[in-house]
Formats: sequence, structure tokens, C-alpha cells
Amino acid sequence: MSEFAPEWLDLREPADLRARSSDVANTVSARFALRDDVSVLDLGSGTGSNLRATAPLLPHRQSWKLVDHDASLHEVAKTRLAAWADAAEFSDNGLRLRKDRREIDVTFVVADLASETAHLLDQPLHLVTASAFFDLTSPDYIRALAKAVAEHRIAFYATLTYNGQRRWTPRRPADNQMASAFHRHQLRDKGLGLAAGPMAPAHLADQFRLNDYSVIEGDSDWRLERSDRMLIEELVRGHAVAVSEIGGVDAKTIVNWINVSRTGVVVGHTDTFAAPAS
Ligand SMILES: C[S@@+](CC[C@H](N)C(=O)[O-])C[C@H]1O[C@@H](n2cnc3c(N)ncnc32)[C@H](O)[C@@H]1O
Repeated sequence: MSEFAPEWLDLREPADLRARSSDVANTVSARFALRDDVSVLDLGSGTGSNLRATAPLLPHRQSWKLVDHDASLHEVAKTRLAAWADAAEFSDNGLRLRKDRREIDVTFVVADLASETAHLLDQPLHLVTASAFFDLTSPDYIRALAKAVAEHRIAFYATLTYNGQRRWTPRRPADNQMASAFHRHQLRDKGLGLAAGPMAPAHLADQFRLNDYSVIEGDSDWRLERSDRMLIEELVRGHAVAVSEIGGVDAKTIVNWINVSRTGVVVGHTDTFAAPAS
């Protein structure tokens, strides 16, 4: 399974939904409770799972712009969103959805966020959001994004940003060695500068506070058990591939590590909501 294959995004979506911080989600909901409409930009939208999870927190009329550099994920997103909604109408580059009395207009933008984020923020928006995205970005990207979002006084909601915790069940002595190699891989350039990886949640909170935003954070850890067997197996496989690519752990250790039968894992994530303080 490739890094952002629709099959991988489908596999993780139920775990993501379960994991989201309800404290942070309630704050998002409260922030928009007095509005009738909201305009949202979703960065690195994949197959649209962030819209499916966040729309219930927002007002009845929503306009979403989904941005990804992979046009094929937009095609999958259209199908997944239409199936999720109670009713869907397709247009040239968009969708009009009805879901639980909400009217949701969706447009799709193919763009490389490495170069086009500032331009995308230069339009009337109430919320910039992203899910499972910011650990791919660099500290410089986060700094520039927070500054631009604050200049436009837009609210910001990032969910499921990886924060570096990973505890396997059962534990094995090689887990630490594998984890440190995995984190070195996480810090490589994923197309948006040398990645912040597990430090991304700290950078998000720091940068928005520096721009006079109030910030609330909550844990959104995956707590996977036997019933999540397929997701656990895929995590083990992805972990081993990343460690092999980065080097520094001998092949025998990696093979022995893969062959341990895992019945659970906790993967640490953080949700972040930031809004202008006054
Ligand atoms: C881990 S996936 C998350 C997808 C979705 N938000 C979700 O929660 O399922 C990261 C997404 O970011 C997109 N992405 C990565 N780098 C990008 C870039 N430079 N410009 C635009 N999209 C990018 C990928 O194509 C992928 O859809």
C-alpha cells in the first residue's frame, strides 16, 4: 500500500474518527455556533475524511474547498462524499451535498501546497483545517502558515497530527531502536521542507500563540486492539519499510521485529484548535 493510497486512507478513517478529541471538537462547534454559514479550506484533503468528520461540528450552510496535489484522490473523494451524504448533486468541479439538514458545497483544487498555500488563503475563509497532514510539513511551513492565517484572522483546526508516541503490545526490546529509526524517517522532506514529524503539534501551538491566537489541544491517540488487526498489520509493515529505507537497523532485527504478532498499539496524535484571542 503506498503512503497515501485510498485503501490506506479508508483503513485509517474509522480509527481517526474514534480518536478525535471531543474537547477540541466541542470548542470548534462552540466557536461557530452563532453562524449560519461557514467557508472552509481543507489542506491535504485526501479522500475527504476530514470533511466527513468535521461537517457535523459546523453550521448548516457550509462551503468547502478541498486541496490536494493528487487529482486521483479528489476523484475518490467525490465518490466517498456522495456515498456518505443523504443526497448529492455533481457539477463540473464540485459537489452539492445534503447531510443531516446541512447543505454542503464542495469544490476541489489540485495544488502543491509547498508553493500555493499563501495564494489559497487569500480568499474569504472562516476556517482552515487539515487532518493527518501537519507532521508532513516543516517548521518553516508551519511558521508561514500560522502568520498568514493570523493575518486573515481565520480560525484553525488541525486533527490527528502525529506526536511521536507509539507503544506496541506486546512490547519487544527492539521497539525503541525501530522507533528512533522510524522518527528519523519522519523528519525527511516529504515535499514541504524537512518535516517537523512528531514535533509538528508543538510547532503549531507555539506559532499560533506567537500570533496572539488562543490555542487548545487534545489527545487524539489511536488505541488499536485485536479488532483493528488489519490496521495494526499495515502499521507494522509501514514502520518496517520506513526503517529499511532510512537504514541503521540490521535486516535481521527488522525481520524479527515484523514477525512478532502484535495485538495492539497506541499511536499518539494531537488535535489543535486556534482562534484569534479577541
Ligand atoms: C496522510 S494523508 C491525509 C489525508 C486526509 N486529510 C485524511 O485525513 O484522510 C496526507 C494528504 O496530504 C496530501 N499532500 C501531501 N503533500 C502535499 C502537497 N505538497 N500538496 C498538496 N497535498 C499534499 C496527500 O496527497 C494526502 O492526501
